[in-house]
Amino acid sequence: MPIKLLEDLPGVGPATAEKLREAGFSSVEAIAVASPGELVAAAEVGEATASKIIAGAREVADVGGFETGDRILERRRMVGKINTGSKNLNELLGGGMETQSIMELYGEFGSGKTQVAHQMAVNVQLPSEMGGLHGSVIIIDTENTFRPERIAQMVKGLPPGPDGQERDPADFLKNISVARAFNSNHQILLAEKAMEMAEKAKDSDYPVRLIIVDSVTAHFRAEYVGRGTLANRQQKLNKHLHDLMRFGDLNNALILVTNQVMSKPDTFFGDPTKPVGGHVLGHTSTFRIYLRKSKGEKRIARLVDSPNLPDGEAVFSVTTEGLKD
Ligand code: GTP
Ligand code: MG
Repeated sequence: MPIKLLEDLPGVGPATAEKLREAGFSSVEAIAVASPGELVAAAEVGEATASKIIAGAREVADVGGFETGDRILERRRMVGKINTGSKNLNELLGGGMETQSIMELYGEFGSGKTQVAHQMAVNVQLPSEMGGLHGSVIIIDTENTFRPERIAQMVKGLPPGPDGQERDPADFLKNISVARAFNSNHQILLAEKAMEMAEKAKDSDYPVRLIIVDSVTAHFRAEYVGRGTLANRQQKLNKHLHDLMRFGDLNNALILVTNQVMSKPDTFFGDPTKPVGGHVLGHTSTFRIYLRKSKGEKRIARLVDSPNLPDGEAVFSVTTEGLKD
C-alpha cells in the first residue's frame, strides 16, 4: 500500500500538515473520518478549507467498504479461540477469547484486568492443542504496567513442553512487542504502527494474533476533561477502536482492551459502576467482561451484552502462576 502523505491533500501545506500530525491526524484515513470542526481546531484553518481537506482525504483514503456475506462467512470460519487458563472463564466465553473481536475487560483497580492481559499474551503463543494460536502479541501499554517478570512467572506455571522440560520464559518474551503510549494521540499512532508490524509478521512462524491496549481509555479520560470536550473525545476513541477492529479483522487477531470503572461518583463521567468511555466503547466491543474482586485470589467475571452468548458469571483465580480456576 503506497503511503499517502498529508501534504498531498488539497489545502494542506507543510505547516498545516505538521499541525495536523501534532494533533494526532497522522494519516489520510484519520482525516477522512474527522469532522471539519476537529480540523479547524487542530490546524487553525477555516471551515471551508477543513471541508476541502476532508473531501480530498476521503477520495484517497482506504476507509473500508462493503463486503459480501460469503466473504464475511469465510472470514468468520477462521475465528480462533484462545484458552484463558481458567475452564470456568473459557466456558463463560463459549470456549475462550475469540479472534476478530474486541474483548473489553472493565473493572476497578486491582480487579485483575492487567493480569488477564498478561496471561493472554502467554497463552496465545501456545500450540493449538493447548488452546493457543501459535501467535505473537503486540501490547500498547498506557500505564506502564507491563511486567516481563510476571510473564516469566506465568510461563513457569504452564505444563512442561513437549520435551518434558520446563518452558523458557525468554521464548515467550521474544514474541511480545510492547510500546508505551505517552498520550492518546501517541496511542492512536501506535495502533497504526502495529498494523505495519503485523503485516510484516504475517507469514512468519508467529503471526500477530493478539493486540492488547491496557488501558484503552486512561489517556482519553485524563486529557479530555470538561463536558465541552466529550464529543471530541468520543470521536477520537471511536476512530481508535475502529482502527483496532480493522486490525483484528485483517490479522485474525483478538483485540483485548482494558477499561477502568469510574471510581468517584462526583466525576463528570457519572455512574461509578459504569465503564469509562460510555457508549462508543460499549457498542464497538464484541465482548465485555466486568471483573470484580472476591475473596483472596478469587475474581468474578461477568459477561455483559454479548451478541451470541448468554450473560453469566464465572469465578477464577489470579495466582502467582497465572489464571486458574
Ligand atoms: P488497574 O490497572 O489499577 O485498574 O488494575 P487491574 O485491574 O489491571 O489490576 P491488576 O490486573 O494489576 O491486578 C493486580 C492484582 O493481581 C493484585 O492486587 C494481586 O491481587 C494480583 N496479583 C498480581 N500479581 C500477582 C502474583 O504474582 N500472585 C498473585 N497471587 N496475585 C497477583
Ligand atoms: Mg491494570
